[in-house]
Amino acid sequence: MLVNQETIQRPKIIQGGMGVSVSGWKLARAVALKGEIGVISGICLDNVMVRELQNGDPENRREALSHYPDQNIVEEIIDEFYVEGGIPPDQPYKLLPIHGVEPPARLQRILSAAVFSEVFMAKHNHHGIVGMNLLSKLKRYSLACLYGAMLADVDLIIMGAGIPVDEAEQISNLAAGKVAKLSIDIDKSACSNPYDSYFYELDPEALLPSPPELPVPDFYPIVSTDTLARILDHKITEGMITGFVVERPIAGGHNAPPRNKQYDDQGNPIYDHRDQARLDKMLELDYPFYLAGGFGSPEDLQDALDRGASGIQVGSIFSLARESNYPVETTERLITEIHRGNVRVRTDGRVSSTGFPFKVLEVEGTLGIIENMLQRRRVCELGYLKQIYLDEAGNIKHRCPSEPVASYKAKGGKEAETERRGCLCNALFANIGLAQRRPWGNEGEIFTAGDEIVNLPLGSLENPEYTASEVIDYLYSK
Ligand SMILES: Cc1cc2nc3c(=O)[nH]c(=O)nc-3n(C[C@H](O)[C@H](O)[C@H](O)COP(=O)(O)O)c2cc1C
Repeated sequence: MLVNQETIQRPKIIQGGMGVSVSGWKLARAVALKGEIGVISGICLDNVMVRELQNGDPENRREALSHYPDQNIVEEIIDEFYVEGGIPPDQPYKLLPIHGVEPPARLQRILSAAVFSEVFMAKHNHHGIVGMNLLSKLKRYSLACLYGAMLADVDLIIMGAGIPVDEAEQISNLAAGKVAKLSIDIDKSACSNPYDSYFYELDPEALLPSPPELPVPDFYPIVSTDTLARILDHKITEGMITGFVVERPIAGGHNAPPRNKQYDDQGNPIYDHRDQARLDKMLELDYPFYLAGGFGSPEDLQDALDRGASGIQVGSIFSLARESNYPVETTERLITEIHRGNVRVRTDGRVSSTGFPFKVLEVEGTLGIIENMLQRRRVCELGYLKQIYLDEAGNIKHRCPSEPVASYKAKGGKEAETERRGCLCNALFANIGLAQRRPWGNEGEIFTAGDEIVNLPLGSLENPEYTASEVIDYLYSK
């Protein structure tokens, strides 16, 4: 440890990063203004930005973009996507191309500008703390997200869904304006003569003519066990990890797979005591850590502090606050249905094409109801979760188990992999009011939240709304 952790006063509440854009700049800003840690979700922000521009730019993102150091790409983005007054409600959104392993610099420039604008808006005109959450699984997107966020002076990076060893190391390269690279997982089974390793690269000089020296943000990996925390401590250069978020499998969003590898007959995980981090072991590691997953009450906060944590990371309750990017009708509908007792939480082992379990809210009228999800026509064009593979000739290709079954199989994928998969890319855009429009109707929603959401302590049937500030006041109300 380089610093004496005892002497540092940290906020006790991290508002968890929630993608796609559920925790956008408004929520992160509201939390940071209250003196806690506000976190934007970095994933998919390039397509979020271009859809907002096609809707006439209701939040004036163009103002934030006008501060981005590469105004050429900003002009290109606005020329191509901004539509004054917005496109008609039945017109499909234009899409950005999917990033491959070696995407054109233009795509990295667009993503970096999008993330810059999000962090810029979250941080504008105050000194509160704003972080960015990323999923380690989304390797083809992470470096451009990190670079854009760092150009906007993001304070910390929180990274889950994977083992972010490379990312921790590469942040300092980006800060120094040097080429950063991440090793990419590739299915090489179809190719008899593959190379050993494949890397995704980002060269800051391809994004900016003279990349500036940037501060290195704090770095908090999300771990589900103390064993993973110990591995990361061992593998990552000393000083690169600031602390950990220790997440239980009852948290909203993606969860770690069960350590015992047990699934029920529906393919959903069965967790046991091995999925709980041992906090005495966490304390031995001597990093600050925050507890996440069902820590959403003043008693939980006190309990976490008593057990030696620096505080708690809370997601689900914040996701329904007025400042989240769910449309107002959505938060009102969800809060009402929860208070009526009409919502169940399922830990779904199949729906996410990442293969990680994903918490799904069973809400009438959404694709969270399995029968509805199975009727969805499969279309895969956002592509954030595509898996990379080599064909027989050694060409790099991508496929997603949520794409149409025939095309997945034609790419050498196994049919069993496609069973009961939903399309989280399209559903999560639908959740925030940016559903793709299809000739047969809009893409449907799949909401996520942790197990404890059914005991939602805020909002009511009479008044189904609350603010981020009320969440924080509630958490400190003891
Ligand atoms: C709507 C929603 C989306 C989430 N998305 C992400 C995500 O993109 N990345 C991530 O690391 N965690 C994600 N999470 C997890 C939160 O960051 C947080 O750790 C978790 O919600 C804490 O547990 P709780 O849900 O019991 O409050 C998400 C949670 C929710 C409710």
